[in-house]
Amino acid sequence: MQAIFFNKPDAICKIQETQIPEPGDNDVLIKIKAAALNRRDFWIKKGIYQGAKFPCIIGSDGAGKVEKVGKNVDKAWLNEAVIINPGLNWGDDPDAHGPDFHILGLPTQGTFAQYIVVNADSIWHKPDGWTFEKAAALPLAALTAYRAMFTRGNLRKGQKVFITGAGGGVAVYLIQFAVAAGAKVYVSSSSEKKIKKAVALGVEGGVFYNQPGWETELENMAKGKFDLIIDSAAGTNFEKFPGLLNTGGKIVNFGGTAGKIPEMTAAKIFWKQASILGTTMGSPTDFKDMISFVKKHHIEPVIDKIFPMVDAELAFKQMENHEQFGKIVIKITDVY
Ligand SMILES: NC(=O)c1ccc[n+]([C@@H]2O[C@H](COP(=O)([O-])OP(=O)(O)OC[C@H]3O[C@@H](n4cnc5c(N)ncnc54)[C@H](OP(=O)(O)O)[C@@H]3O)[C@@H](O)[C@H]2O)c1
Repeated sequence: MQAIFFNKPDAICKIQETQIPEPGDNDVLIKIKAAALNRRDFWIKKGIYQGAKFPCIIGSDGAGKVEKVGKNVDKAWLNEAVIINPGLNWGDDPDAHGPDFHILGLPTQGTFAQYIVVNADSIWHKPDGWTFEKAAALPLAALTAYRAMFTRGNLRKGQKVFITGAGGGVAVYLIQFAVAAGAKVYVSSSSEKKIKKAVALGVEGGVFYNQPGWETELENMAKGKFDLIIDSAAGTNFEKFPGLLNTGGKIVNFGGTAGKIPEMTAAKIFWKQASILGTTMGSPTDFKDMISFVKKHHIEPVIDKIFPMVDAELAFKQMENHEQFGKIVIKITDVY
């Protein structure tokens, strides 16, 4: 099979030939039709993701068709169109993943390849009528957004939410989910074009996170403070979040795109009865609930661009330059 290889940190990705993996007794072999990028893939490619080892075939998001099943797997899966839950071995506790939890695409082979083997527990039917490209854009980002927004953030209808970095792959799902749940949604972004796209999805308005005084502008725009802030950037702006919360409000963080959180005033947290919560991807129950929510509200993935496999390097460039609004997808085909 052909796969996108990363042979050393920060190298250009290369299409190379490798063996098709064999499914074990509880596994399925999937012929991947489309895969999608996550920022994790970008950090791994750069060589700065903890545990990154080279050479590697990464990728956490994929959709395709089941070509082989292991001897303990229901034969009804054969030829079915599927998506993969990239959160592997979550464990038994819905509140937090266990010690064996890992993400598809490191240390095991990822979806940027023509074939992949995964445990049959990790596959779900592709939503009806969706292309493989659309389906590949769903799993990791939508799962992360669902858990952040509902399982951890406990968002309720009518609440006011602030989502940072509107253009991000996860952020666009956060926007779609919050709007569908009947919240009043505000965003930040680096780009006016992206704020306009967020407004078209139902957001009330947005501010530029890199402009001094953004927090005052946001509070004026929203005519008050927020019940929930969902953030994937951290960095220096994080310190402003407690001041933007209503009493009893929550901050849910799942990423550190903008770096470390420098310093915070404790009184702004305890006096507000505030909660600061971390979240990572989601449990199998979160995945099931996310798919039901997406179907119930007719939510469709927002895809910024689909790249042919041969142009994988350009897909990563687009992510590096923060150009996207929503997901970047790679169509998996024969390259040579
Ligand atoms: N813990 C988990 O389970 C989990 C899961 C998925 C992702 N993540 C992490 O979450 C982050 C986002 O992931 P992603 O896949 O959605 O990435 P992405 O598609 O590359 O989006 C990143 C977005 O971050 C925004 N951004 C950059 N600097 C910012 C700042 N200073 N303040 C606010 N926003 C800023 C940009 O928004 P604009 O373009 O609008 O400016 C950009 O589009 C990454 O750090 C990733 O590693 C964690």
